[in-house]
Amino acid sequence: MEILKRIEELKKEKNAIILAHYYQNADIQDLADYVGDSYFLSEIGRDSDAEIIVYCGVKFMAESAKILSPEKTVLFPVHGDATCCMEHQATPGLVEEMKKKHPNAKVVTYINSSSEVKAVSDACCTSSSAINIVENIDADEIIFVPDQNLASYVAEQTTKKIIPFDGQCNVHHKVTLKNIESLKEQHGELEILAHPECQKEIRDISDYVGSTAGILKYARESKKNELIIVTEKGIEHQLRKDSPKKKFYFPHMICSPMKRVFVESIAEALETNKGEVIMDQRLIEKAKRALLNMHKYAGG
Ligand code: 13P
Ligand code: SF4
Repeated sequence: MEILKRIEELKKEKNAIILAHYYQNADIQDLADYVGDSYFLSEIGRDSDAEIIVYCGVKFMAESAKILSPEKTVLFPVHGDATCCMEHQATPGLVEEMKKKHPNAKVVTYINSSSEVKAVSDACCTSSSAINIVENIDADEIIFVPDQNLASYVAEQTTKKIIPFDGQCNVHHKVTLKNIESLKEQHGELEILAHPECQKEIRDISDYVGSTAGILKYARESKKNELIIVTEKGIEHQLRKDSPKKKFYFPHMICSPMKRVFVESIAEALETNKGEVIMDQRLIEKAKRALLNMHKYAGG
């Protein structure tokens, strides 16, 4: 395909790499240099020698890459609004109000949040690193922003006091026990693998709870040939690549902001720098501390 060849040429010419999250469309995952969960991709972006990072994901991911490497050009090749719903839920003002109510607490903010909220936080976390970060940060009280489900999952694994914000992922939060029951009626009593953004009632009936990378690892290693997967459907591409003989069943879970990157928009971004992430230098400086602390406390 001509366009794929052109992308390869442009990558070499401009010293660029393409990063894609597991929820991206299959063709985008296939042309990316690295596919991963949000923690893995944050490290790859930070450590790469490339001058240009093309980030195929949602806005907070591309902005986090820019914050961690302001000297690099970060391109975000999306059509329309590709923001995670949680980027709009917490605000710096609401976080400051919580801080006033809990003056001894530190703020741990899920990376799925705006850069402005990161700027008033002590550390960021991802789903794969949240428990380590809460355990390693020097406070016994943690304001956890914005995902209430990840907050309650972390609270179940730590003796620290977790003070949750009341946000949620619209894709994961809406899955009900009834949805899972109906999958079981159709396919039998299967192992269930869920993302921690799911509600407690789903996590409680799951055999494994973890990040997208964790779900992939568990599915690869499982002796079972059929599994129920409770996370966004884009992960199916990698599940099938890893285990072509296994069958995976999903409740209806589509994150539309994750589906706004196209092969053509990647080529255009590499040709013209369209979609370059431009951020205020002061915001970068303020938000950077929380992201650096994420890597520090996660041990990465
Ligand atoms: P992961 O860090 O597990 O890839 O999660 C990102 C995300 O947006 C889940 O909805
Ligand atoms: Fe955000 Fe949910 Fe989409 Fe993940 S699945 S990017 S949390 S809206």
